[in-house]
Amino acid sequence: MSDSFRAGLRALPDFPGDLPSFDPSVGPKDPAELFRQWLSGALAAGVRQPHAFSLATADASGHVSSRMLILKDIDDDGGWQFASSRTSRKGGELAENPNAAMNFYWPELGRQIRVAGAVVELSADASAADWDARPASDGRPNPAWQLYALMPREMEFWQARADRHHIRHRVVF
Ligand SMILES: Cc1cc2nc3c(=O)[nH]c(=O)nc-3n(C[C@H](O)[C@H](O)[C@H](O)COP(=O)(O)O)c2cc1C
Repeated sequence: MSDSFRAGLRALPDFPGDLPSFDPSVGPKDPAELFRQWLSGALAAGVRQPHAFSLATADASGHVSSRMLILKDIDDDGGWQFASSRTSRKGGELAENPNAAMNFYWPELGRQIRVAGAVVELSADASAADWDARPASDGRPNPAWQLYALMPREMEFWQARADRHHIRHRVVF
């Protein structure tokens, strides 16, 4: 690429100066609760779509793909719910290889949250209820719509710091 493009990338702004603090030894021990707390903070800070995350999946050969999705819930069984069509690329990959990784990133707060684990398909009833609850729903069913739940095997909370001693809080289940 051209020197000016590279120089332009280098010149882009870094994290904001007024980053929140994070001490993993203080606050909720339950990572899902900590996520809810961080999500509230993101909403209060005006982060747009803080419930959007990238989901990485892989096919049976290990070829990886990722895309943005919306978090639907963290359920009582500990599942991080998202929904999509079973006929999509991600649907096919999850059928072949039911493992995935989520990544939330909130630049305004210098925060990243990674969640990885096995993915299970939730019931047809739960999937239909999710389809009907979409803002664009016209009442017609979509049998291909699937509600999934990622069951975390590991999580990492990452907080940027102005002194670049960034904080990583890893949880293995
Ligand atoms: C912010 C954002 C949120 C999205 N949310 C969803 C979602 O919840 N479910 C979905 O199927 N696609 C969603 N999409 C579209 C996906 O990113 C993707 O384009 C689509 O699901 C096809 O992906 P695939 O071909 O890898 O299966 C969203 C896109 C963006 C940018």
